Amino acid sequence: MSKISIELTKSPKAKPADESSLSFGTIFTDHMFIMNYDKGEGWHDPRIVPYAPISLEPSAMCLHYGQEVFEGLKAYRTEKDEIQLFRPDQNFKRLNVSNERLSIPAIDEELALEALKQLINIEKDWIPRQKDTSLYIRPFIISTDPHLGVRPGHNYLFMIILSPVGSYYAEGLNPVKIYVETNYVRAVKGGTGMAKTGGNYASSLNSQVEAKEKNYSQVLWLDGVERKYIEEVGAMNIFFVIGDEVVTPSLGGSILDGITRKSSIELMKSWGLKVVERRISIDEIVEAYRDGQLKEVFGTGTAAVISPVGHLRYDDIVMEIGDNKIGRISEKLYDEMTGIQWGRVEDKFGWTIKIG
Ligand code: PLP
Ligand code: COI
Repeated sequence: MSKISIELTKSPKAKPADESSLSFGTIFTDHMFIMNYDKGEGWHDPRIVPYAPISLEPSAMCLHYGQEVFEGLKAYRTEKDEIQLFRPDQNFKRLNVSNERLSIPAIDEELALEALKQLINIEKDWIPRQKDTSLYIRPFIISTDPHLGVRPGHNYLFMIILSPVGSYYAEGLNPVKIYVETNYVRAVKGGTGMAKTGGNYASSLNSQVEAKEKNYSQVLWLDGVERKYIEEVGAMNIFFVIGDEVVTPSLGGSILDGITRKSSIELMKSWGLKVVERRISIDEIVEAYRDGQLKEVFGTGTAAVISPVGHLRYDDIVMEIGDNKIGRISEKLYDEMTGIQWGRVEDKFGWTIKIG
C-alpha cells in the first residue's frame, strides 16, 4: 500500500463555537485527502494536505460531462469520547460500484479507508460533541483532463473533505412532509440511479425547488417507465409499515443501495419483524392508507438518519400518517441505529470501527 504523506496547516481555523446551531455541509475542516490518477501511472501520490481550493482547467472534463462520483458517511464521537465510523468499508465498496458505472478507474478500498482513518485522526477535534451532531465525510472523484471530446477521462482526482454537521432536515426528528413527484423522474433501470453521481442530483433540483415552494421537504420518486412504483426520496431510501409488515422497494438498478437501508433491514429482522423488499405501487400505499393499514412511513440515509414522514401527498390525495408523530417502529429503529452509531448501544453486528 502506498504511504500517505502528510502536510499540516500552519493556520488552523476556529472551530464552530455554537454546536447547537450546526446545519448541514457549510463548514469544512483544516485538512483534506487527495490522490491523483493518470493514465499509465494509475492512482498515485496519496496525501493529506491543508484544506484549500483546487485549480482546474476550464476545459476539465468533469465540468462538461459530469464524470463525477461521491460518497457520504459520518464520524461519531461517543459519550466515552471515542471516535467511530459506521460501515465505512461499505461506502468505499459502493464508490467502486459508482466508479464502474461512470467509467472511472477503481480505487484501492483499503488505501481509501486507511487514508480516511488518518485524516479523521488529524481532524478529531472537529468532531462535535453536542447530541445528534457528527462529522460528515464526503469522498468524491472527478475527471480533470483538459479535453472537450466525449470519452472517459485519463486524469482524475480522488478527494475526501470533512464537515461538522447537525440535522439534515430542519425538522430534526419531527416528521417531514413529502410529496409524490408525478411530473419528473429521477432514474430508469439501465441509467445511473444505482450510482452516487452528481447528475442524479442535478436533475432532481427543479423538483426539490418546487417541493420547497409548496412547503414540502423533498419528493418521493416513482419509477421512470410506468410512473407507478415507488423508488426513493431525494436523499434517502423509503420504508412503509403496512399492517404488521415493513416493506421497502427492492433494489432494481434505479435506486441507491443505501447503507442505512440495508442496516435497518438487518436490525428490524433481528427483532423478529417481517421486512420485505419488493415492488410497491403508489396505489397500494393509498389503498393501505384508506384501509387504515398504513401505520408508519420513514426514510433512511446517512445525512437523514431515520426520518419519519408524517404527511405524504399524491396529486390531491393527502395522507396524514400516525397523527404526524413518529411511529413505534421508526422510533425504535432511530434509537437503535443512532445508539450503535454514537456508541450508546452495543454493536452486535460489528458495524462500527473505532479510530485513534
Ligand atoms: N438515496 C439517495 C438518493 C441518497 O442520496 C442517499 C444518501 O446517501 C440514500 C438513498 C441513503 O443512502 P445511505 O444510507 O447509504 O446514506
Ligand atoms: C448522504 O446521506 O450521505 C447523502 O449523500 C445525501 C445527500 C446529502 C446528497
